[in-house]
Amino acid sequence: MTKPAARAYSLSQARPARAGRSVAVASGKGGVGKTWFAITLAHAMAMSGQRVLLFDADLGLANVDIQLGLMPALDLGSVVSGAATLSDAIAGYAPGGFDVVAGRSGSGSLAALDSAALEGLLSALDSAAAQYDVVLLDLGAGVDRAVRRMASWADTLLVVATEEPTSLTDAYATVKLHAADRPGGDARLVVNLCSTPSAGERTAATLTRACHVFLGRTPPLLGTIRRDTHVQDAIRRQSLLLTRHPNCPASLDVEQIAARIAGAGPAG
Ligand SMILES: Nc1ncnc2c1ncn2[C@@H]1O[C@H](COP(=O)(O)OP(=O)(O)O)[C@@H](O)[C@H]1O
Ligand SMILES: [Mg+2]
Repeated sequence: MTKPAARAYSLSQARPARAGRSVAVASGKGGVGKTWFAITLAHAMAMSGQRVLLFDADLGLANVDIQLGLMPALDLGSVVSGAATLSDAIAGYAPGGFDVVAGRSGSGSLAALDSAALEGLLSALDSAAAQYDVVLLDLGAGVDRAVRRMASWADTLLVVATEEPTSLTDAYATVKLHAADRPGGDARLVVNLCSTPSAGERTAATLTRACHVFLGRTPPLLGTIRRDTHVQDAIRRQSLLLTRHPNCPASLDVEQIAARIAGAGPAG
C-alpha cells in the first residue's frame, strides 16, 4: 500500500477540468451501514471509471480500515496530530481502484479539534479533491460540531436511514441541522436494510413528510438498499461486496445509487 502504487492506477498527473465533487455520508445513528455503504459506493464509482478518494472522517470508531483490512502506516490521526500531511496519508486501495484516507479507532474525535484545525483539514481536502472526480466522506455517528461542519462542507449530503424509529429521528435531526448550516444545500436520503424496495420507499416517505412539514425541505430519495446476508459475508472476509457478490441485491442497489449520483446534478 505505497503511494507510488496509488499513483500508478488512480492519480492523474494532469489537472482535471473541474474540481472534484464531494459527497458526505451521514446518518446520526451508528450501525445503519454507513461505512459499508460509503466503501461500496466508492467502489461502484471507481468501477465506472471515476477517480475516487474515500475519506474516513471518524477518529472515534474508524472502520473503513477494519472493513477493508487495511493497516495504513499513516492515517487521519497522523494528519490531525501534525505528524503527516493529508496527501501523505492518502493510500491506494488496489482491489477497489480507489484511494483511502483511513481514520484511526480510539484516538479521540474530530470534535476535539479546534475550528482552525478543522478548517485547515478541510482546505487540505479541498486541494486533494482537485485530483479526483469525487471525494466521499464517511462521517462519524452523532451530530457534533465537526460532523456538522463536514456535512455542510460537502456538495452533497447523503443521509442514511433504516426503518427503525431511532434511525429515522436521527436522520431527521441530521437533515434539520444541514438545513440550518447550509440553507438550500443538497441533501438526499438513502434507506438501507430494507426488506423490499417498496418498504424502503415507505420509510423514506415518512421521513420526507416530516422534513417537508417541519423544515420546509423535501430531501429526495436517492435509493433504497435491501437487507442482504451477502453484506455480512463480504465484511467478515474484509472484501468488497461488488467483487465478491456482484449480482446480489445489495450490490445492484448500490450500483443504481452510484449511477444516479453520476447522472444527476444537484437535486432541485
Ligand atoms: N444492506 C445490508 N444488508 C445486511 N447487512 C447490512 C447491510 N448494511 C449494513 N449491514 C450490517 O450492518 C453492520 C454495520 O455496518 P456499518 O457500515 O459498520 O455501520 P455504521 O457505519 O453506520 O455504523 C455491518 O457490519 C453489516 O453486517
Ligand atoms: Mg461507521
